[in-house]
Amino acid sequence: EKGGYDHFMLKEIYEQPRAILDTYRGRLRASQGLIKMAGIDQNLEKFMNANRIIIVACGTSWHAGLVAEYIFEDLARIPVEVEYASEFRYRNPVITDKDILIAISQSGETADTLAAIKLAKEKGAFVFGVCNVVGSSIARETDAGAYTHAGPEIGVASTKAFTTQITVLTLLALKLAKEKGVFSESRFHEFLTELETIPAKVEKVLESNALIEIIADVYKDSTNCLYLGRGYNFPVALEGALKLKEISYIHAEGYPAAEMKHGPIALIDDQMPVFVIATKKGHYEKVVSNIQEIKSRKGKIIAIVTEGDTQVTELADHVVEVPETLESLSPLLNTIPLQLLSYHIAVMRGCNVDQPRNLAKSVTVE
Ligand code: M6R
Repeated sequence: EKGGYDHFMLKEIYEQPRAILDTYRGRLRASQGLIKMAGIDQNLEKFMNANRIIIVACGTSWHAGLVAEYIFEDLARIPVEVEYASEFRYRNPVITDKDILIAISQSGETADTLAAIKLAKEKGAFVFGVCNVVGSSIARETDAGAYTHAGPEIGVASTKAFTTQITVLTLLALKLAKEKGVFSESRFHEFLTELETIPAKVEKVLESNALIEIIADVYKDSTNCLYLGRGYNFPVALEGALKLKEISYIHAEGYPAAEMKHGPIALIDDQMPVFVIATKKGHYEKVVSNIQEIKSRKGKIIAIVTEGDTQVTELADHVVEVPETLESLSPLLNTIPLQLLSYHIAVMRGCNVDQPRNLAKSVTVE
């Protein structure tokens, strides 16, 4: 059942090239310059007239929502707010019938997300679901939606659900960008073509597994870790930290790299591993100077860099290379080494990777 892998989590990490492909297959036709998604095509007017999009989710799905915020605002020029479902439902939010609520949930059973949907519906918003489990409560409760086609995710730590959620939300943003006329045909085409290269590029990232295992061995006994990223990769830093926390029980925090000097920099000493997403495009030079600040305080730097990088590679203690891609698609690649790293550290520490203590796969109580 684990397909030869030691754990479901590792199997699911390795399934990502196929899962991402399955999620856009049948929806994306790069050669014809088309994206077809029934849940959107049938409700295009609502999306086109929306004042804003509110995204609600929990945990890893909330991180996918944060990536989507960058994508929607950057590509489709629609204002987006991203909220923890548990906070949204209890703070008397201002919602109108000109709002669209997007609920993201792998299981489709998360109690807080379900309650947030009900609240938004009562206030007249159109509710769109991004779920993995077909026929789940959230899939049934929403007005329309698009499934991620990741296949069953058994490991409690969410992996392929995250990358396929980002894939669905990217398709949605691209489609709206095209319909709204904010994208030229050529830019749209460039995105679609690049999206089609992602499964092969994820495959390439997975080839770094042995290297990542070596890095995991160096840092497996750490008690604290910091994850830094900027822009599209700030949510990737949050997700990297969550993954490490939940399966290895090491305390980890994700931060936007520039926020470091407003507090967390005080933590840095020669015992502190700092994982930095430092791929080319999008604030590269700024991240380089953040890395210099860490280095001058003797922090250990483990960086995710673009193939052929030299600047960060010279400064860092370890680097993992990933293929080049568009900045907006980079979370799909940059997340993978962080998933593998958490996995190996947890295994080396003897943790129950697929069923971490105190956690359930779907949180059906608030
Ligand atoms: O099924 P959902 O996507 O609604 O679940 C949300 C969170 O409970 C979930 O992502 C959780 O944070 C994972 N254990 C993270 O790996």
